[in-house]
Formats: sequence, C-alpha cells, structure tokens
Amino acid sequence: EYVILNGGLIERSEAKVDIEDRGYQFGDGVYEVIRVYNGKMFTADEHLERLLESGKKIELNIPYSIGQLKQMLAEMIERNNLELGIVYMQFSRGTSPRNHAYPGADVAPVLTAYTRETSRPVESMRNGVKAILIEDIRWLRCDIKSLNLLGNIMAKQKAAQTGCFEAIQHRGNTVTEGSSSNVAIVKNGKLYTHPATNLILNGITRRKINEICTENGVALEESAFTKDDLLDADEVFMSSTSAEITPITEIEGKPIGNGSPGPITNKLQNLFEEAIE
Ligand code: PDD
Repeated sequence: EYVILNGGLIERSEAKVDIEDRGYQFGDGVYEVIRVYNGKMFTADEHLERLLESGKKIELNIPYSIGQLKQMLAEMIERNNLELGIVYMQFSRGTSPRNHAYPGADVAPVLTAYTRETSRPVESMRNGVKAILIEDIRWLRCDIKSLNLLGNIMAKQKAAQTGCFEAIQHRGNTVTEGSSSNVAIVKNGKLYTHPATNLILNGITRRKINEICTENGVALEESAFTKDDLLDADEVFMSSTSAEITPITEIEGKPIGNGSPGPITNKLQNLFEEAIE
C-alpha cells in the first residue's frame, strides 16, 4: 500500500512524520476527504479548491497547483488499485521547534495522503439513521476544514454512545450542521439548508445537492432553521463525501415525518447517484 509523503509515493511503512510536526502538536493544518468511484475521484477540483482556500484562511501556503495535486492523487489511486473508497489528504504547517506563532517561510508544509477502500453506505441510505441534538461548542471558523476536530469528535462520540449515527449541532436555537456532515430539512416540499457562513463547512456534497435542486425544480432556500423546524420537518437528511445523502429518520428518539425516508430525499438520492456514474 502506497501513501504520499510530501512530493512522492512511498510504502506506508516507510512514511515518517516528526514528533514536532505542527499538525501533530497543534492540529495546525487543513485536510480533505475525496470520494473515489470506479477508480476515479469525484468532484476533485471542488475539494482541492476548498483545500487551497482553507490553507489561505490560515496563511498556510500550499506549494502545489490543483493539477499537480490531482495528478499525485490519481497516481496513488492507480498504484493501490483503488476502485471504490476515499482519498484522505492533509497539509500540516510543517515541522519546527514548538512555538505557537507560525514558523518562517523556510519551514515547508508537510503533505500526507492515503487511500482507503470503503463501500457506499447502502443500508443506511435506504433505511435512514438516528441522530441526537447537541449544542455546537466549536469555534467560529467552521468554514475552514481544519485538522482541529475536537468539538466534532466529542459530538460524534456522544451520538455513538447513545446508539446514534450522527450528532446534529445547534447554536442556541439555530441548527448548524452535523459533526461530520451538513444537514438539510424538507418542509412542505421545500428544502432548507444553513447558508454557507463561518458557522458551517460548505460541503461539496451540499453544493452538489443544491445544484441538483436548482436543475430539477426542487425548491431550495439557503437559510438557517431552528431545532423546532428540524423536529417538525417532513424529511431530514445529512450529506457528506462518505455518507452521500443519508436520511435521518429519528432525532432524540422522535420519528421524523412517518419515520421512514421521504420522497424528496429519495428523489435527490436518485439524482445524486446519476451524477456519480
Ligand atoms: N467530513 N461538515 C463537516 C463538519 C464535515 O466534517 C464534513 C465532511 C461535511 C461535509 O462536507 P463534504 O460534503 O465536502 O464531505 C460538513 C469529512 C467527510 C470527514 O471529515 O471525514
């Protein structure tokens, strides 16, 4: 199994990162997860553009073009014979003696990437999953896909402990997003999703769904909704690179709609599936 360390492909067992890598010490870096279907990356440009943007937002200069990154990742996918799965990649700010302030321009970012085989979550996409509601305790730059995920993993762990698949976060009454997904609701035939502000990660899957809505006459409003709107919704779903469009059929023990995936969620799932083929 080959991984990327900085410029090149090497055996995973050969890959070494310093204990003073700033990603390791501070969570100082940015990352992406890209889906691979039929041996090809899905929406690679969008993911890599977001990666460069995340880098810019924290003054981490990624010394590669989108084209170069795509080529390196494609080579790794091919060498590992990955047909269906994901690519994970991250840039840390690099290695230097521990100091909160950023190191000088002489310190180069450290790139690591690997592939993982994973099937599509067919079962949960068909039957739906359960979720909990939890206060969003994260920082105010959730638009950055940062390596710092403590708030997210604490929320997900709470869900896991109660036998749920996702934790839907809210700031006061306003629903923001899942611990590792975006959340949308359907009410009276219309889709509502939190606008792309600093309070959420603007998911590539979310953007694709919005595009599909616009092209197929599904009414869409990018506006924040409340916890009550969520619990009273006709349909709720989460979206992410790995979960695609997964219906949420129960929240805090309460069924959503009639407790099974709804027609608009199903319609979007079908249209999404056409887009990935
Ligand atoms: N998570 N919001 C958060 C907080 C996320 O971590 C993710 C993705 C999303 C959905 O983004 P996208 O559609 O671009 O995958 C929204 C990835 C998959 C992860 O950390 O594994």
